[in-house]
Amino acid sequence: MRNTVIEALIVAIIILKKRNNILFLLYLHLSGVNRILILINRLELIKDIVEKNQLSEQDSAVSGTSGIPQTLRWSAGELYLLDQTKLPLEVVEEKQESVEQVWHSIKQLKVRGAPAIGVAAAYGLLIGVREQTGMNLSEYLQEVENKAAYLDSARPTAVNLKWALNRMLAIAKTFSGNDSRELYKQLEEEAIRIHEEDVQLCLKMGGNGVSLINEGMGVLTHCNAGALATTGIGTATSPMYLAHQNGVQFRVYADETRPLLQGARLTSWELKKSGLDVTLLTDNMAAHIMSQGLIDLVITGTDRVVANGDVANKIGTHGVAILAKHFGIPFYVACPYSTIDLNTAEGKDIVIEEREAEEVSHFGLRRTAPEEMKVRNPAFDVTPHELVTGLITEKGIIRAPFAENLRKEYL
Ligand code: MRU
Repeated sequence: MRNTVIEALIVAIIILKKRNNILFLLYLHLSGVNRILILINRLELIKDIVEKNQLSEQDSAVSGTSGIPQTLRWSAGELYLLDQTKLPLEVVEEKQESVEQVWHSIKQLKVRGAPAIGVAAAYGLLIGVREQTGMNLSEYLQEVENKAAYLDSARPTAVNLKWALNRMLAIAKTFSGNDSRELYKQLEEEAIRIHEEDVQLCLKMGGNGVSLINEGMGVLTHCNAGALATTGIGTATSPMYLAHQNGVQFRVYADETRPLLQGARLTSWELKKSGLDVTLLTDNMAAHIMSQGLIDLVITGTDRVVANGDVANKIGTHGVAILAKHFGIPFYVACPYSTIDLNTAEGKDIVIEEREAEEVSHFGLRRTAPEEMKVRNPAFDVTPHELVTGLITEKGIIRAPFAENLRKEYL
């Protein structure tokens, strides 16, 4: 009983301390080793509660956004993912206990968006191999390879997943020591580098794309290629956040993005929270809104840009690009080098993820199609490079001829 009271006091004091930055000193008078052990055990639980409490207060450290919780974080050797399936109704962070849990989090889109799944997979690999450092090095290397292949199988289209895992594997394959613990340390350093680099890449894309957004413009985007899809200020949204920060007045139109509503649940949420002027549209409204002259620019993200400049992105992007062409609206795609795949020749070679029929036959939990209805659910489509005005990258804006210019910059 006495311990329970003390624990409650600790929770209250830690929460108060976080809120007001007041330092409290606590003296515990416990008798007996058993009591201390029980208390330590329970403190672990308490730590979890406190970490969840912190999340709602956590403002993004990224410039230009505000009040958006971090997509993911690595803290004291643990991975925490914001569960994006619960947004915008609940802001919940989930500690990842196993590599299987990370795999499912990627598959179920708890963490999603090409750059974010790359960073999550790099940390996920650490979760998968952190308890095996007692193995000899050759067994450990095999374990690293197996877990990387497993994580890579979670989703096929976004190349960032493979890219990040390949970077981790390169550390393992070129490791010159003989201690598995030392290799784990180096893998952790690489995962942190991938994470930090992602933040910087977003800022650079933003800097290179910001001049495309001028006073009074209407900018349309599809899906969520925002802060939530990365660990920084997003890809497609990075010029928007920076233009907003510079005081440019413009309107954003966010496509709802059927079937999983990333535009409605995530893009409109994060832009609104950051003070941008954002209007939500259902996907089939884009042509009408464009025909009224309300859209001057389209910027989307991408999951893979291939050697000829074709881009895979969330299903529906191709349609938006065709509309943009019809109405003479520039269509830009923002992507860091981690999304550029020069080993794949053309868009038709990209594996398009096909997801469960229930995502289409149901709206949330409610069935909206007849029982046993035949359904297609490709999660992505490919926009041919002829429809792309430019690729906003960390190196600048790349324009046609894409095959030549991509090779020049990235080979
Ligand atoms: O299925 P999702 O939500 O992972 O799809 C995300 C997208 O299609 C994004 O536009 C893309 O990953 C670019 S993210 C910066």
